[in-house]
Amino acid sequence: MSMTHVETRHFVLKDRLLDDFFLVQLEALDNSFFPNPWSHRAWEDFVKNPSNYYLVLALAEGRQTGGEVFPHDSAEGEVLVGYSLFLLSEPESLAHLLKIVVRPSWRQMGLGKRMIHEGIQTLLGKEFERIFLEVEENNIDAVNLYQTLGFRRLHYSKHFYGPGRHAVIMDNKIKP
Ligand SMILES: CC(C)(COP(=O)(O)OP(=O)(O)OC[C@H]1O[C@@H](n2cnc3c(N)ncnc32)[C@H](O)[C@@H]1OP(=O)(O)O)[C@@H](O)C(=O)NCCC(=O)NCCS
Repeated sequence: MSMTHVETRHFVLKDRLLDDFFLVQLEALDNSFFPNPWSHRAWEDFVKNPSNYYLVLALAEGRQTGGEVFPHDSAEGEVLVGYSLFLLSEPESLAHLLKIVVRPSWRQMGLGKRMIHEGIQTLLGKEFERIFLEVEENNIDAVNLYQTLGFRRLHYSKHFYGPGRHAVIMDNKIKP
């Protein structure tokens, strides 16, 4: 599968709201990975306030998804293959990388890196200085991804995700 056909699209601050088509796909992708995904209502409420978030969507043409079965795929239309979601606190020049997911058959092709890199560039341009995140300590794929992009380990938070499930808190001071 060629990466050249994947487009990343941004939903930035006050620019525009996320439309229903992508919202439905976003929820489906969220549901496929997170044990406690947000409800439809939670997503709807969240996207009503675009100054609070920055979202990068990775979109592919429907026919590129091969045999992978996934809700809301269309034969020819755009399909969401990944997203990264940053929460923003403008007064503190601080962003929180809250969620990032790439569909399984699209992993290890550089999409995760590309989505975070684009987030960093945009946030830098908007005078943000730091991004932080939490990640489960044994999520090696994600920890490696973040380290590759310059995130450093800041704290260790025991039982953050539940009994025996510990988190590493990482941050990236993006302002040179
Ligand atoms: C974590 C995740 C987003 C990575 O996305 P991806 O598109 O596969 O990542 P990339 O292809 O951009 O890889 C970037 C770097 O991440 C690391 N990485 C990615 N997959 C890896 C794997 N299977 N094993 C080891 N390192 C891996 C590598 O350091 C890689 O850099 P390299 O290619 O130069 O070696 C993806 O695995 C995923 O969706 N996981 C489930 C959701 C999740 O865990 N989200 C994070 C917690 S919210």
